[in-house]
Amino acid sequence: MHEDVLKILARRSVRAFTAQPVPDATLRDLLKAAMSAPSAAARDPWHFIVVRNPVLLSRLAELLPHGTLIAHAAAGIVVCGDKQAAHRQDLSYLLQDCSAATENLLLAASMMGLGACWLGIHPNRERIAGFRERLGLPSAIIPVAAVALGFPQERPAPRTRYRTDSVHRECW
Ligand SMILES: Cc1cc2nc3c(=O)[nH]c(=O)nc-3n(C[C@H](O)[C@H](O)[C@H](O)COP(=O)(O)O)c2cc1C
Repeated sequence: MHEDVLKILARRSVRAFTAQPVPDATLRDLLKAAMSAPSAAARDPWHFIVVRNPVLLSRLAELLPHGTLIAHAAAGIVVCGDKQAAHRQDLSYLLQDCSAATENLLLAASMMGLGACWLGIHPNRERIAGFRERLGLPSAIIPVAAVALGFPQERPAPRTRYRTDSVHRECW
């Protein structure tokens, strides 16, 4: 397998982190990677809220039944989209663009030796309302995902979930 594809396979969800803080320069590199993602009509409707305050991280964890691990992360990045800025002001484009940015962020984190996990917010109504309230989001801003981030305390093995029956050639 090509060595660059192996780097993509090495990205796994990491859910346990050391206490080591993530340097500002590293966070900036991650955000540069996120904001190099493809975006419909290059509208770049994304916004990123970096959270380092452990008290706030714990308060965000309260909103995420499957994401309590963010309370113990060195940082969290909440990926949001601006519906007014999205291509055709369409929610689907907003979600696709923000998801591409989130995956870029996860891949960059993995390649830089960090651990990260995507924690779903959208489309859960309670989580959207909770993040709106706790982060003071304007009404046009939609929280899509939270990324828990830190130096990894676990290292899941690289893998693909490649399945031949998911691949169709020329037609279904
Ligand atoms: C939209 C979305 C929402 C997710 N939400 C959560 C979550 O709430 N909690 C969690 O631990 N992992 C969450 N994940 C991570 C998946 O569980 C994980 O990517 C999947 O099990 C595959 O494992 P891998 O990332 O190690 O390859 C989410 C992933 C996506 C794409």
